[in-house]
Amino acid sequence: MRNEMMSRPVINEKVLQYLRQQPVPLSPKLRGIEEFANEKRIPIIPHETVSYLYQLVNQLRPTKILEVGTAIGFSAALFVEASQQQTRVTTIDRFEEMYQRAQTNWQSLGYQSQIQLLTGDAADILPMLTGQYELIFLDAAKAQYINFLPEALRLLAPEGVLLIDDVLQGGTIFEPIESIRHRDKGIHRHLNQLLDTVYADDELLTTLLPLGDGLLKITRREIQK
Ligand SMILES: C[S@@+](CC[C@H](N)C(=O)[O-])C[C@H]1O[C@@H](n2cnc3c(N)ncnc32)[C@H](O)[C@@H]1O
Repeated sequence: MRNEMMSRPVINEKVLQYLRQQPVPLSPKLRGIEEFANEKRIPIIPHETVSYLYQLVNQLRPTKILEVGTAIGFSAALFVEASQQQTRVTTIDRFEEMYQRAQTNWQSLGYQSQIQLLTGDAADILPMLTGQYELIFLDAAKAQYINFLPEALRLLAPEGVLLIDDVLQGGTIFEPIESIRHRDKGIHRHLNQLLDTVYADDELLTTLLPLGDGLLKITRREIQK
């Protein structure tokens, strides 16, 4: 399962290379999982996003994190490490081959008690979740983000941060739909709808970071009444 957008940088190639070479204080085992995934082209977050998420989690120290898109468990384990093992992660995936490997990886890292795996389609699972999460990370089927958004906002703690990964389609997202390949038109339309929705919502503060294929960061704005 390749993510072809990983090799279509949305920033200058030299800047990207620089960011991808910078150190992040991962444990040797977790660094090994990152290297394995990159070698096998398993679509985990790219290194520049690893660096950003590590710093964010280390700074915010969220006690509860929700993730949609586990893959082989790399980012969930990153959250545990970056929080100095202070956070509990709930992560959702529907692809057995991936999440079985995630469970093996968490066991080898010793993080299995801090990570709860929910298996199935996030569209079915998200409406059943309760409680509040200080950090929510959507990293799954891009065409569904717009459907996940209301549930993610419902589950987001008042001061929480919602991150949505891979929203730029290698930068093609701003091109007219007629120029987009037939099979990508649905994603193109849904991602544009997502961007329009969050930027138009005056209860939200939204910023778009050019990390990887674009990381959308959303917080709640306090409206003075
Ligand atoms: C990009 S990978 C996640 C990478 C992971 N967050 C990391 O960086 O280590 C996307 C994952 O989302 C899962 N996925 C996609 N759509 C989903 C859905 N609707 N419900 C549950 N899982 C989904 C796929 O099976 C895949 O494993």
